Amino acid sequence: MKKKVGIIGAGPSGLSQLRAFERAQSKGNDIPEIVCFEKQSDWGGLWNYTWRTGVDEAGDPCHGSMYRYLWSNGPKEGLEFADYTFKEHFGKDIASYPPRSVLFDYIKGRLEKTNFRDKIRFNTIVRDVRYHENKNQFEVVSRDTKKDTEVTDFFDYLVVATGHFSTPNVPFYEGFDSFNGRILHAHDFRDAREFTNKNILILGTSYSAEDIGSQCWKYGCKSVIVAHRTAPMGFDWPENWKEVPALVKTVGNKAFFKDGSESEIDAIILCTGYQHHFPFLPDDLRLKTANRLATANLYKGIVWTKNPRLFYLGMQDQWYTFNMFDAQAWYARDLILGKIKMPNSSTLYADPIEREKMEDALEDDYACIRYQGDYVRELISETDYPDFNVDAANEAFFLWKKHKKKNIMTFRDQGGFTSPMDSSVSPSYNKPWKEELDDRMEVYLK
Ligand SMILES: Cc1cc2nc3c(=O)[nH]c(=O)nc-3n(C[C@H](O)[C@H](O)[C@H](O)COP(=O)(O)OP(=O)(O)OC[C@H]3O[C@@H](n4cnc5c(N)ncnc54)[C@H](O)[C@@H]3O)c2cc1C
Ligand SMILES: NC(=O)c1ccc[n+]([C@@H]2O[C@H](COP(=O)([O-])OP(=O)(O)OC[C@H]3O[C@@H](n4cnc5c(N)ncnc54)[C@H](OP(=O)(O)O)[C@@H]3O)[C@@H](O)[C@H]2O)c1
Repeated sequence: MKKKVGIIGAGPSGLSQLRAFERAQSKGNDIPEIVCFEKQSDWGGLWNYTWRTGVDEAGDPCHGSMYRYLWSNGPKEGLEFADYTFKEHFGKDIASYPPRSVLFDYIKGRLEKTNFRDKIRFNTIVRDVRYHENKNQFEVVSRDTKKDTEVTDFFDYLVVATGHFSTPNVPFYEGFDSFNGRILHAHDFRDAREFTNKNILILGTSYSAEDIGSQCWKYGCKSVIVAHRTAPMGFDWPENWKEVPALVKTVGNKAFFKDGSESEIDAIILCTGYQHHFPFLPDDLRLKTANRLATANLYKGIVWTKNPRLFYLGMQDQWYTFNMFDAQAWYARDLILGKIKMPNSSTLYADPIEREKMEDALEDDYACIRYQGDYVRELISETDYPDFNVDAANEAFFLWKKHKKKNIMTFRDQGGFTSPMDSSVSPSYNKPWKEELDDRMEVYLK
C-alpha cells in the first residue's frame, strides 16, 4: 500500500512541499499519495491578495494579511528558489523589490508547469486532527466549504504549512474602548489611501510598523507617530514622522505616551505581531513557540519532536523565506521517503534546545542572518536541493540593511544585488518607489 501524506496549506511553504515531491517523482522516485488542503480558493497563501477582512466567504477567519501596494520588504535575491530562478520565470533580469503581484506570479510559476495543482483540495479547511497510536496514522477532518460537507482522511505523515502571520496579537490599552476613530490591526490593513490626510498612530517597531507607516506616508497621510514598547526603529524618518515612547492610554482622540507627551490622532494601527495559532491541532501535536529563529520543539526546525511523523514548515521568524521553505520541504520529503534516517528521540529532543542556545548568543541582526543562512545550508547539504551561494544571499541582506540605514524611503530604488543562484546582477527599478503608485505586475515588468 502506498503511504499517504497530508499537507495543510498551499501557501509558499505547502507549495515547496509539493514541489519537493514533484522533483523526486521527475527523477523516477516512487512518491506517496499526497493530499494538500487549502481553505482559500487559490494557492499562494498570504501572497494571494484578498480585499476581505474579518471572515472569509465561508465565515472562517480571513487568512490574508497583505495589503494593496505591498512591495517585497527584502531583496528578492534573499528568497530566490535555487531550482527556479527569477530569470527563468520572467525571462529577464528584474529589479530587487517586486510588488506582491510579481512575487505571487513567481511563487506559483514552477508548479503551474506540472499537474501538481490537482493534489490540492481548494476551499477545504482542516478542522480537526487526531493521531491514532494503534495505526500510526493521523485522522484529518476537513470541510469543503463550497459543498458544505465534512470529509475524514487518514495519513501516515502530516505536514503543517499554515503560516504564522494571520492570527493577530491585539493588545488592549486604556481608552481604546472609547477612542473616537478607527483602531485596526495590521492584519486588517488593506489600502493606505484610507488614511490620506489623517494623523495615524502606529504601535510596534518591526516590519509591519515600518512598512505600513511608509505606505501611509507614500499615499499622503498627514503624520505618522510610532510608539515603541522596547526601542525605536531609529531610521532617518521624513519630517512628518516621529517616534515616541510607549503608549499609556487614549482619551477621546488624544494619545498619551510614557514620556508625558500627547498627540491628537485619527486612527491607531496595531502593528503588534501575530500568534502561532493551530486551532485544528490537539495539545499533543500543537506547536507553541515564540516568533524566533530556533523554533521550540522542532528537530531541525521541522520535525515535531514528540511525534516525528508530523512536520511543520515555515514556523520560524524569517529573514530567509521561499528558499528556506524549499530547504525544509526537501528535508521533510527525504525523511518521509526514508532517504534520511530519523534519529532517536534523545537527538530529536536535544536539537532544538541546542539551536535555541545558539540563537540566544547571537549579537545582532547580521549574526541572525548568518545563523539562518547556515541553517538553510545545513538542510540543503543533506538533500538534492540545488546547492546555492548562501553567502551571496547573506550579502544581499547586509546590503539591504545598509541601504535602509542610509535612507528608509529610497532603499527599494536600489539595484546591484547579485543573485545567489545565477550570479546575475539586478537593475534598479525605472522609477523611485515613492513615485510608483501602481503596483500591477505588467507595470512593474515594463
Ligand atoms: C504583511 C506581510 C508581508 C510579508 N512580506 C514578505 C516579503 O516581502 N518577503 C518575504 O519573503 N516574506 C514576506 N512575508 C512573510 C510570509 O510569511 C512568507 O512570505 C510566506 O507567505 C509564508 O508562507 P507560508 O506558506 O508558510 O504561510 P502562508 O503564506 O500564511 O500560507 C499558509 C496557507 O495555509 C492555509 N491555511 C491556513 N489554515 C488552514 C486550514 N486550517 N486548512 C486549510 N488551509 C489552511 C492558508 O489559507 C494559506 O494559504 C510577509 C508576511 C506578512 C504578514
Ligand atoms: N512589505 C513587506 O514585505 C512586509 C510588510 C509588513 C510585514 N512583513 C512581514 O510580516 C511579518 C510580521 O511582522 P510584524 O511587524 O507584523 O510582527 P513582528 O515582527 O512579530 O513584530 C511585532 C512588533 O509588535 C510589538 N508589540 C507586540 N506586542 C505589543 C504591545 N502589547 N504593545 C506594543 N507593541 C507590541 C513588538 O515590540 P517589542 O519589540 O517591544 O516586542 C514588535 O515591534 C514579518 O515576517 C515581516 O517581514 C513584511
